[in-house]
Amino acid sequence: MKKRAFSGIKPSGSLHLGNYLGAIRHWVADQHKYENIFCVVDQHAITVEYEPAVLRQNIRELVGLYLACGLDPEQCSLFVQSHIPEHTELAWLFSCITPMGWLGRMTQFKEKSEGLREQVSAGLFTYPALMAADILLYQTQEVPVGEDQKQHVELARDIAQRFNHLFGETFVLPEPVIRTVAARVMGLDDPTKKMSKSSASDNHGIGLLDPPALIRKKLSRATTDSQRDIVFNRERPGVYNLLSIYQALSGQSQEEIEAHFAGKGYAQLKGDLADLVVAALEPIQERYRQLTSAPEHIDQVLAQGVVRLRPLVDATMTCVRYVMGLR
Ligand code: TYM
Repeated sequence: MKKRAFSGIKPSGSLHLGNYLGAIRHWVADQHKYENIFCVVDQHAITVEYEPAVLRQNIRELVGLYLACGLDPEQCSLFVQSHIPEHTELAWLFSCITPMGWLGRMTQFKEKSEGLREQVSAGLFTYPALMAADILLYQTQEVPVGEDQKQHVELARDIAQRFNHLFGETFVLPEPVIRTVAARVMGLDDPTKKMSKSSASDNHGIGLLDPPALIRKKLSRATTDSQRDIVFNRERPGVYNLLSIYQALSGQSQEEIEAHFAGKGYAQLKGDLADLVVAALEPIQERYRQLTSAPEHIDQVLAQGVVRLRPLVDATMTCVRYVMGLR
């Protein structure tokens, strides 16, 4: 029996290289190993201010990119979170057994709510209960994510444990799966901040759909430092970030990469890295163009995902409603 893997991405902006290196490329590489479920978590994207028309567009772009990056709908159930209403039902049930203290400790909540004070939505605060529902609804064993989501997956595990303790064995306890290379890709403009979809700066992230010339320009402007040698050193976050991206895309060891750049300068590092990034993204962009010229294919894939998942959703929810005394 294959283990079940679940993961998702928020359609809150254009996908960037961090999402690809930290998450999607591993989903694609490992899809034969697992029973896979990948979600476009649209209800997570509405916890902060947003434009409905832009969200609608982002959802479709994200599904197109899942397919263009290589997720195979025969091996993976792909779907949009709001198309299965039990996610929000289970999230409500979880929010009734999750202490406020657990939610208040989430670093993503602290970061995103900074400066908003009373304006922060209740949804942003209870976001991890919805994420726990996403994962636990499918009795997921493994959750492949970038490093920034580790705390949320651990909270999902704590919620499962608490539920099982209160109402009897119901949920499988999930584990985060985080790879070591490029699990946290940093912003090109500021390598002390993680690359994110919501940055306002033009030179912050590389979009998966950025044209080659733009990729080259952004990398040529990436922040480095005033030293000369090109070595993996976490104390030098700009160079470390570029080298980590290089390592993820080339598959070479740190020693091989340091030997390759010995005696060379930052311009060479940025140029060689741009070649690798462009070579990785061009085929994805080409497939994306083909896929989006036939939008009915995307609708079909999403509908098939929901149909396949229905029995699993019904099994979990029938049990949950019963043990909680609702039925
Ligand atoms: P999101 O949409 O912010 O990110 C999607 C995936 O990309 C990874 N990631 C990164 N990896 C490396 N470097 C980066 N700079 C970087 N930025 C993002 C994330 O770790 C993630 O794997 N709350 C989640 C979405 C979610 C989810 C779920 C994930 C909702 N429900 C259930 C797993 C399971 C989020 O906001 O991811």
